Amino acid sequence: MIITIDGPAAAGKGTLAAFLAEKYRLAYFDTGMVYRAVGLMMVLAGLDINDEEQAAATAGQLTFVKMMELSKHPDFRSPIGSQAASVVSAHPKVRQALLRMQQDFARHPTFADGQPASGAIYDGRDTGTVVCPDADFKFFITAAPEVRARRRYEEYLQKGKEVSFEEVFADMQARDKRDAERATAPMKPAADAVIVDTSSMSAAEVAAAVCRQIEQGKQNKSE
Ligand code: DC
Repeated sequence: MIITIDGPAAAGKGTLAAFLAEKYRLAYFDTGMVYRAVGLMMVLAGLDINDEEQAAATAGQLTFVKMMELSKHPDFRSPIGSQAASVVSAHPKVRQALLRMQQDFARHPTFADGQPASGAIYDGRDTGTVVCPDADFKFFITAAPEVRARRRYEEYLQKGKEVSFEEVFADMQARDKRDAERATAPMKPAADAVIVDTSSMSAAEVAAAVCRQIEQGKQNKSE
């Protein structure tokens, strides 16, 4: 079984994906990591993230192992890392270079300990539209921008990061705009995705709503 969860930052995709991965024993691929890894590799090497050729060459060097290593860096999920990921992800050649690596995961889903899994769950922006257009279940998880900025701000506070709410909100709006307006694989729901607005839902309510859809879908398929 392949499940895709797309949508804007801090809409609740990661929490939902982790829950579903556990419940259905699926290997989890957070596809934002590939763009974060390329952005961070460029920042650390002093390269220009706006240069598509250099970004594509950097993407061509990325491996799963390297990505996992980079994910331990303090800037991997910081505002600097988020901004760099969003900029490099708008380059069509970068997306092309990283597509195969993402699609291979659905062919050979693997848990973090290397054990094979019977299916995969993806989270990102284009996993239902481009990466896995034939997924069994597709969801588009969204929430009002202020709600998402508040969630992300609270995450930063918990991690002891010094940022203002205004800064987080402005960064999120800039990122949403770039992700939704880029020419290649813009963030949008797949035609066959179920859209869930989590603005006034708890994580448990979101999980319950999505599980109902999956169970219903499985039943329909077996009939
Ligand atoms: O989900 P995230 O915040 O970790 O994603 C970081 C950036 O990567 C985001 O601004 C857009 C980009 N991204 C993408 O373009 N396509 C994906 N499938 C996942 C992320």
